[in-house]
Amino acid sequence: MKKILFLDLIKMHEPIRQELHDAAIKVIDSGHYIGGEEVKSFEKEMAAWLGVQNLCGVACGTSAIFAVLKGMGIGPGDEVITTVHTAIATAEAVTLTGARVVFCDIASDGFNLDLDEVEKKINSKTKAIIAVHLYGQPVEMDRALAIAKKHKLFLVEDCAQAQGAVYKGKKVGTMGDAGTFSFFPSKNLGGFGDGGAITVKDPAQFRYAKMYSNHGRESKYDHEFEGINSRLDAMQAALLRVCLRKLDEWNIGRRKVASWYDAGLKDLSQVKTPKVLPGSEPVYHLYVITVPDREALMKHLKDNGVETGVHYPCSLNVQPAFAYMKQGKGHFSKAENACEHMLSLPVSPSLSKEEIDYVCETIRKFYM
Ligand SMILES: Cc1ncc(COP(=O)(O)O)c(C=O)c1O
Repeated sequence: MKKILFLDLIKMHEPIRQELHDAAIKVIDSGHYIGGEEVKSFEKEMAAWLGVQNLCGVACGTSAIFAVLKGMGIGPGDEVITTVHTAIATAEAVTLTGARVVFCDIASDGFNLDLDEVEKKINSKTKAIIAVHLYGQPVEMDRALAIAKKHKLFLVEDCAQAQGAVYKGKKVGTMGDAGTFSFFPSKNLGGFGDGGAITVKDPAQFRYAKMYSNHGRESKYDHEFEGINSRLDAMQAALLRVCLRKLDEWNIGRRKVASWYDAGLKDLSQVKTPKVLPGSEPVYHLYVITVPDREALMKHLKDNGVETGVHYPCSLNVQPAFAYMKQGKGHFSKAENACEHMLSLPVSPSLSKEEIDYVCETIRKFYM
């Protein structure tokens, strides 16, 4: 029996193992572990890759969102609208500022936020929308930007799962007022621990967010205001520089895997494969299918050596953490329903056609 891991980072890193080792040793031998040349070089290289002026490394994707919201002056009394179907981090970052997170459901034809519902939830307290490019699938940015412009709101792109995804020729993270990134190890650009980055269009907001992430300072003992410690460290930056050079190739590999799944599953009526928005080039952080009998299929795949995942088992409104909102089961029916039927199949640039054919064949046997 074959064994197909959900994500095999060791195998994925194998071709750059020596470069990673060299980069790590260089940092150890440098004696500089916080800030410094590695962080500056990574920021410069990622900004060039993204095509932006302002980019700053931070400690993780959660604090990236938090920092840009702080830079926008968002706080108590404000509301920020985002999807109910995302990692808890997106919502936590809003709550951390003192603002209220307002959830909206997902669209009927995908897993990203329902922009009609976003517009309905805008009121005088609304200050920003966080568009999460979930699973590496871009949000319909033309519409999101039009809504933000019409209502004079900030638009933040949460690109934690979408480094390199493109919408109508533009990379995600470059279209809204700010873009945030996570370098959690499993992400398309993953580090070897926690890490994140921000890009912000407005120079004053960027400066504030960057300073906020480093104790409210630009130079060592001049603290303009109170901030936090949320820096990207030198070791992560050095390792991320190596991975950044591979990112485009890895994303091509992920797209290839997705195309093999698309072809291998297309005539199975029980399996709904990911829908791609016209004009968008997803990067398949996850390849999520929808099936009528998720638990049984998951078990069948496991019994046949295929690891799968569920992203996410429930939408945020039914998490105990948000019980205070009193928006339990039934409030976001599309997301809640999707959570019962979705299944994430293994995606990694290191997976071969033969392995994907095996996964498809195993699913096919289940439905025969
Ligand atoms: C959509 C989304 N936003 C934000 C985050 C937070 O990133 P981090 O884990 O680096 O704090 C994640 C990571 O899980 C994510 O998937």
